[in-house]
Amino acid sequence: MEQPCTHCGQTFRPSYVYQVATTDGERQHFCSLECRRAKLGVEGFRARRARRIAILNQKGGTGKTTTAVNLAAGVAERGYDVLLVDTDAQGNVGASLGIRGERSLYHVLVEGHAPADVAVPVRRSLDVITSDATLAAAEIWLARQEPGVRSRVLTQRLNQAQVTRRYSYVVLDCGPSLNLLNQNALTYADEVIIPVACDYLALIGVKQVMQTIRDIERHLSHSVRVSAVLPTFFDGRTRLSRESFSTLKDHFRQRCLDPIRHNTRLAEAPAHRKTIFEHAPDSHGASDYARVVDWITGQSATDAPAAQASSQAVAQ
Ligand SMILES: Nc1ncnc2c1ncn2[C@@H]1O[C@H](COP(=O)(O)OP(=O)(O)OP(=O)(O)O)[C@@H](O)[C@H]1O
Ligand SMILES: [Mg+2]
Repeated sequence: MEQPCTHCGQTFRPSYVYQVATTDGERQHFCSLECRRAKLGVEGFRARRARRIAILNQKGGTGKTTTAVNLAAGVAERGYDVLLVDTDAQGNVGASLGIRGERSLYHVLVEGHAPADVAVPVRRSLDVITSDATLAAAEIWLARQEPGVRSRVLTQRLNQAQVTRRYSYVVLDCGPSLNLLNQNALTYADEVIIPVACDYLALIGVKQVMQTIRDIERHLSHSVRVSAVLPTFFDGRTRLSRESFSTLKDHFRQRCLDPIRHNTRLAEAPAHRKTIFEHAPDSHGASDYARVVDWITGQSATDAPAAQASSQAVAQ
């Protein structure tokens, strides 16, 4: 049923947990996170609602998995509960952290297993749902579902209190393609971070992502925000890197974050089954990713971990 937004007055149909809040027994409706924040302030986010971030670029090898793993691990180290979901059949998240889940995202998507039963605790505050080659079968299974359903399966599976309330962040590592799994990831996510390698083809990949996001918005009436473009493999000694970075900066302005430098330590860490913060805490890679973690937690939709316990508002 359509409701007027308590903050801006626009009528909309509430579809997400965060769009309804009950404070002092009174029910309020918010058409967007911004309206909720404007009306309820920080208090309004003490009721947990995981922030859903997809790390996506259809182009291969741009640092998506490296970003997803280190971002998730860095945020978890700050005490937030994080669920990292690998939506790529290459299974690189599990390989990077040295785990192979007994069950994988396939079981969540196709067999309907509860995400909480499939997630593997890997570090303090960090759980992972791994993937492997079976995800190719999940893609085929998705393609056989009704058109209105096939892009929403991940959302249906993860939209459970076990996930939404338990975690402050859900981070999705996406594969380098335009497949149904990525459409599912975008349908679930509130926001996307696009890692872009500082090379000649950088902007082409970004344009493709922007087009995919527009398609999702048009077909599924779900709005996804590009919260950041993250330049990766930056080498300040090369003109190509400097030019790619400045093109991204001109294009995306404040949404273009400071670059992640090319750093061998980042490439080594997965072989040691470690995050960059464990493998080489004093490296450029660690300081660059720590900066991204600062940025994410600094503008977090949820409140600081300690404050979350004293929840006042109750999202329905
Ligand atoms: N800043 C960096 N400096 C040096 N090596 C890096 C950096 N970022 C990532 N790498 C390495 O580059 C390779 C590709 O990175 P990564 O796997 O994160 O890319 P991806 O976008 O996830 O790739 P795919 O599209 O195949 O999923 C990996 O071996 C990774 O360890
Ligand atoms: Mg990857």
